[in-house]
Amino acid sequence: MAKEKLVFFCKECGHETAKWTGQCPGCHAWNTMVEGLKPSKQASRYVTGDNLKQNSPEKITEVTIEAEDRYTTGISELDRVLGGGIVKGSLTLVGGDPGIGKSTLLLQMCRNLSAMGERLLYVSGEESLKQIKMRADRIGDFTDNLLLLCETSLDRILDFVVNGANKPEVVVIDSIQTVYKENVDAAPGSVSQVRECTSAILHVAKQYGISVFIVGHVTKEGVVAGPRMLEHMVDTVLYFEGDNVASYRMLRAVKNRFGSTNEIGVFEMRNTGLSEVLNPSEYMLSGRPEHEPGDAVTCALEGTRPIMVEIQVLVCQTTFNYPRRTAVGIDFNRITLLMAVIEKRMGIHMGDYDAYVNIAGGMKVNEPALDLALVAAVISSYRNRAIPDGMLIMGEVGLVGEVRGVSMAVKRVNEAVKMGYKTCIIPKSNMEAIEDIIKESQIKCYGISNIRELAELI
Ligand code: TYD
Ligand code: MG
Repeated sequence: MAKEKLVFFCKECGHETAKWTGQCPGCHAWNTMVEGLKPSKQASRYVTGDNLKQNSPEKITEVTIEAEDRYTTGISELDRVLGGGIVKGSLTLVGGDPGIGKSTLLLQMCRNLSAMGERLLYVSGEESLKQIKMRADRIGDFTDNLLLLCETSLDRILDFVVNGANKPEVVVIDSIQTVYKENVDAAPGSVSQVRECTSAILHVAKQYGISVFIVGHVTKEGVVAGPRMLEHMVDTVLYFEGDNVASYRMLRAVKNRFGSTNEIGVFEMRNTGLSEVLNPSEYMLSGRPEHEPGDAVTCALEGTRPIMVEIQVLVCQTTFNYPRRTAVGIDFNRITLLMAVIEKRMGIHMGDYDAYVNIAGGMKVNEPALDLALVAAVISSYRNRAIPDGMLIMGEVGLVGEVRGVSMAVKRVNEAVKMGYKTCIIPKSNMEAIEDIIKESQIKCYGISNIRELAELI
């Protein structure tokens, strides 16, 4: 038997070297090289010579796509992120922090698919059958089409998938860090295991047209554990993110070979599993106080989806030597910068005042389009006068106090119309684009070019 060769991989970029180094020669990250086995050159046992021979070049115009190549999952927010449903034979990675709801989401998807008559296999290396059943009981009723398997040996899992009596059409593997291949001499979750297992799963998915979902845990640094190579290998990478305190969750496509990466899905964790949030703006603005100073509404974009958010600011006389500034859900530096702009360009002395800023609902937004609403909320709190109800404020604020245009203004104003808002304060340069909406909906729009004009309008 040939001697197995030890090599070193970078945990971040997957770069391979023969010698250990402190710094990865590929991505220059420090302390990321780990020992592993050289990936085997021989093809996976599921790829046979016969199968490879059948492949020959085809004219692009003659390739046909059938409508049934996609399954709908019955969860419209998930379908949206996947680009219109699960593609047959695709490999999807679902990443996210522990406890965010990855297993719950996939089990709910299995439930819907099995009710539609699809055959499914849910493999768990983390939970026992009883634990899965307990979760399933909270989610709802299941049919016989869903099989459960608690197994960590990938060879046995794939044997079942390929040779089992009930060949599944969709397989979920929870999680890639717990499965192992017997011929790879490394611990489960290590770089070589994750890499070899994913490549074996990929072969099976492509060769047998089985759609596979793999769950990947996210490390402290926020990347899916194992090499970034995992992301290169799979067709679709979905990240499930959210706040531990807030009950809403966002599913984001980071990579998608079958659709756009601009889509997000919004969910809420309830005691019966995840429920879809079809109107995130309404969800974010629910419980918003009325006629309160320091409260402004703006429209942020998540991918291509407009979401109205509420910005709350509390400005009060400082009792410290230096004024305090705190920010929740928004970039701290942006606040100090905007406070300086307000001080200089509007002549309001902010140096004696503390400012506390919060995005209600636990959302995190990082977009310059929020600047103007933040400025408005600061002024409103400082003067102790509420911003009129039903007013949307958006625009980027520059250092000389100018208000600059925002991207996709039409979408944002449309969202305000949908939510029944009556007035909008927007950058002057965006006015032309939204003329049609003003005519159709009678929403009042004021275009401004400097933050000084804002003071009069609110
Ligand atoms: P889980 O799906 O196990 O997360 P992951 O697989 O990403 O680690 O997350 C479950 C969390 O959600 C857990 O903390 C309990 C909670 N939960 C509910 O609040 N309601 C429910 O109906 C279910 C099934 C879970
Ligand atoms: Mg889980």
